[in-house]
Amino acid sequence: MSTVLVVDDKEMMRDSVCSVLRRAGMTALAATNGAEALERVALQRPDAVVSDLKMPGMTGVELLAQVRKIDEELPVVLMTAFGSVQTAVEAMKLGAFDYLTKPFEGDELLICVKRAIQHAKLRRENAVLRAQGSQAEVEASGRIVTQGEAFGLDRLVGASPAMRSVKAQVQAVADSHGTVLIVGESGTGKEVVARAIHELSPRRTGPFLAVNCAALSETLLESELFGHEKGAFTGADKMRKGRFELAHGGTLLLDEVSEVSPAIQAKLLRVLQERAFERVGSSQTISIDVRVLATSNRDLPKAVAAGDFRQDLFFRLNVLPIHLPALCDKIEDVPVLAETFLGQIARREGRGRVRLEPAAVELLCGYEWPGNVRELQNVCERAVVLSASGSRHDDVVIRREMLEPWLAWQTKPVQRPAVVIEPAPRVEEPVAVAVGGPAVLEDGAITFAPGATTLDDMERNAIVRTLERYDGHRQKSADALGIGVRTLGIKLKKWKDERLVPEDL
Ligand SMILES: Nc1ncnc2c1ncn2[C@@H]1O[C@H](COP(=O)(O)OP(=O)(O)OP(=O)(O)O)[C@@H](O)[C@H]1O
Ligand SMILES: [Mg+2]
Repeated sequence: MSTVLVVDDKEMMRDSVCSVLRRAGMTALAATNGAEALERVALQRPDAVVSDLKMPGMTGVELLAQVRKIDEELPVVLMTAFGSVQTAVEAMKLGAFDYLTKPFEGDELLICVKRAIQHAKLRRENAVLRAQGSQAEVEASGRIVTQGEAFGLDRLVGASPAMRSVKAQVQAVADSHGTVLIVGESGTGKEVVARAIHELSPRRTGPFLAVNCAALSETLLESELFGHEKGAFTGADKMRKGRFELAHGGTLLLDEVSEVSPAIQAKLLRVLQERAFERVGSSQTISIDVRVLATSNRDLPKAVAAGDFRQDLFFRLNVLPIHLPALCDKIEDVPVLAETFLGQIARREGRGRVRLEPAAVELLCGYEWPGNVRELQNVCERAVVLSASGSRHDDVVIRREMLEPWLAWQTKPVQRPAVVIEPAPRVEEPVAVAVGGPAVLEDGAITFAPGATTLDDMERNAIVRTLERYDGHRQKSADALGIGVRTLGIKLKKWKDERLVPEDL
């Protein structure tokens, strides 16, 4: 339902405009002067303003200028007597949405107001999309976006008891307005859970925005969260809305909230308590309706004990806590997660069906996964990309040896009784680095030979295989391996000098 603020010093006009709007099912708020109107704009966030042009004190044009400072998109319709149409036209140049010449019919008013609201809605949606776009760029590293992305609980793959409990908690908190603190090691799916909560909540049609609190300097983060006025600091050449304002009616995820400075912690506390804040460089209080979700991969109670994090803020954030298990604590989910990722990646790469050979499943289930689900996803990505198949549409079979080079970072053997598939004995051996079977070079050919070799061999093997997969294209190979193309070049040159790789690579 739309809310319209009607501003006029004359009671009769104000009342009749309000009643036309109310009869059309809108909420009408009334203000008798510009100052009162501004207060209402900031606190009650109407969808449109209908204001008289001539009023004692602040005129409609002055009001328009002040409204613009609070909200760039809020449409203002001016009501004007026949003699002052010229002023109204001038006002449109200053950003008024439209004007109505008195006397006007109720229908005329409604058409104009509805058009104004629709127009502003589109502009807001565009602003949110822009904010989400810039966020997507930041996240582009590593996040695999697939067509027909899952929705709600379907995003959360896995049926282990730990995962079933997480899903039940997500479902349970979705309807509430309360702040959810999602904790878990890096790569355990905190952001996936946040999106699922938003999508299952009554706010699902509103925006979902995220701010990575660890990625920005204090000044940038402050303006990112709360916005700033024009001229608030050097470089602030335009008024800018913050994420709290853009997420109005939706959900805001404060990612890695443990990393924010004491000054911003104080500001966050206030938003959570009062749902109100001021833009940087402004004294105008703005109120919002936003649900806050937060994530942390640090132990927040410890940070509180150490004096790094405000206890009162912790309590505000921790209203509904959800703890995400490490992947090694839900190892029975590994096969289904791997299958899901392999399928998604194969589809994206235009490859055929992907199968994991049983020995490969065993290997994956025996690994410790320090990087959790994200690491598993990366391993799957590399396995598909590097699996050279005859034709692009052939089925891809992922064999144990194809995964081994990527699991080399495991430094100690895993002994976990809860594993569904018994880990292969080779993995159980307390090897220092390698888990066996990496590549050696024989007569210029790359093969897998049993027995552990060095980390260098494995690295060389991975690089050579990737280059083969991409027909020697260095940039593509470097991207697939997550290293710089220069690094790749330096390594290749060294290996060529040592005659460890073919000259023509
Ligand atoms: N249960 C799951 N089902 C499907 N995909 C998952 C699951 N958990 C995690 N993922 C995937 O793993 C990757 C990492 O997840 P996400 O970004 O949510 O982790 P995170 O906990 O926020 O990590 P970080 O602390 O590093 O930000 C993502 O690509 C996500 O899609
Ligand atoms: Mg995250």
